[in-house]
Amino acid sequence: FERPDGRSSRQRLLVVANRLPVSAVRRGEDSWSLEMSSGGLVTALLGVKGFEARWIGWAGVNVPDEIGQRALTDALAQKKCIPVFLDEEIVHQYYNGYCNNILWPLFHYLGLPQEDRLATTRSFQSQFFAYQKANQMFADVVNKHYEEGDVVWCHDYHLMFLPKCLKEYNSQMKVGWFLHTPFPSSEIHRTLPSRSELLRAVLAADLVGFHTYDYARHFVSACTRILGLEGTPEGVEDQGRLTRVAAFPIGIDADRFIRALDTQPVQDHIKELKERFAGRKVMLGVDRLDMIKGIPQKILAFEKFLEENSNWHDKVVLLQIAVPTRTDVPEYQKLTSQVHEIVGRINGRFGTLTAVPIHHLDRSLDFHKLCALYAVTDVALVTSLRDGMNLVSYEFVACQDSKKGVLILSEFAGAAQSLGAGAILVNPWNITEVAVSIAQALNMPAEEREKRHRHNYAHVTTHTAQEWAEMFVSELNDTVVEAQLRTKQ
Ligand code: ADP
Ligand code: G6P
Repeated sequence: FERPDGRSSRQRLLVVANRLPVSAVRRGEDSWSLEMSSGGLVTALLGVKGFEARWIGWAGVNVPDEIGQRALTDALAQKKCIPVFLDEEIVHQYYNGYCNNILWPLFHYLGLPQEDRLATTRSFQSQFFAYQKANQMFADVVNKHYEEGDVVWCHDYHLMFLPKCLKEYNSQMKVGWFLHTPFPSSEIHRTLPSRSELLRAVLAADLVGFHTYDYARHFVSACTRILGLEGTPEGVEDQGRLTRVAAFPIGIDADRFIRALDTQPVQDHIKELKERFAGRKVMLGVDRLDMIKGIPQKILAFEKFLEENSNWHDKVVLLQIAVPTRTDVPEYQKLTSQVHEIVGRINGRFGTLTAVPIHHLDRSLDFHKLCALYAVTDVALVTSLRDGMNLVSYEFVACQDSKKGVLILSEFAGAAQSLGAGAILVNPWNITEVAVSIAQALNMPAEEREKRHRHNYAHVTTHTAQEWAEMFVSELNDTVVEAQLRTKQ
């Protein structure tokens, strides 16, 4: 359509997420370099093309001075990003505290932190207060950049208060909210002291989306059981106002991975890796170093496999690439030392003078190296204790069309619902079961590997990030039109 002011005819999409696709690193008083951020949310959103999109989020650094803020705002503008500046104390209470020490573990069924349960409700309350304040700061920035007709798409557990703040600014704003983590059973959600406030704030959105039907169902149950509202097949109703709730399973930009495999840098890396690991099967784990990823459990299962399959010693290697994340949160620091300790012990036990069974890297790999690793892998191990979707499993499948390796996948990852028929599904808490699955994967006949791979490849190449975003935005537009028609009647 033509806008009256003659500006671009495409509908603008304001994507609001705590994490911008690029994170800033300060190089001087007013100079910055921008690095790709890690995580599934960023990967998925970068795969979305064709929208007139602006990104609003935190640049991942504290910038107290105005000169720095102006310089960073200019640098980010070139990437169509708009920063929200959060000071150190807010980051500590909102991001490290309420988001990553309370909501993240709770939504992944790891419960509330014990110290908060016993100690000062004050600390809990001050974190919740900071959370609300941070969400209000995001809303201020969105409101400043909002133009009539824009679609505002809020993302993830950091911003559950945002729909409410935005609607208070402007009840006509089209607001969608999408959760990239699981939404837990209502029995888990009800343990959260601020359970009702969060649900009510999310319900201010026009459309609420989840990766799987189960998460959507849990959310609706939480609203009916905790708030006493009515759940309908369309969503949740409160005094005649409907918040539409639905599942929109995410995907990746599979073509980007497939195309990359043919490029020279990736082919060079593939050659190097093949030479380096000649004569050994390659098993791969790629995760953020997060307790939900089940990294210690995965490594212990690999140890059990080695214990019980001496014929495989020296013939298999596990490459575990774990990028450090949220390093100011104590639970994450403990995890890093725990993983290092286990890896050291197993390498000491099963290593030889010339080879070790586990290569563990605490770092992020660039895209080309990652593609090459996926391509040479025989067995990928995704053993999340819980995971909203898990895009690593999708990326692995996209890069496996010549090798047709095996995916071992946790039944507690959202991806189990889409890739379950092609993967070997496991309970990641059951170390013996995972060890047996490793043996099954390594010994799987080519014909069966081919059949399983076909299933997964068809899914990953047809259910893309692009399709996911188009479906969400179009549903959001329709939902708002229907709501307007209902009010007129
Ligand atoms: P999460 O969103 O919890 O991090 P996902 O599996 O959905 O989990 O997405 C992780 C994303 O981050 C993927 O796109 C993956 O390629 C990327 N990633 C994770 N670990 C690394 C790493 N060590 N190096 C490079 N990229 C990584
Ligand atoms: C998950 C979350 C994202 C988050 C990412 C990386 O994918 O769903 O919202 O951005 O992890 O975590 P970080 O804390 O570094 O942003």
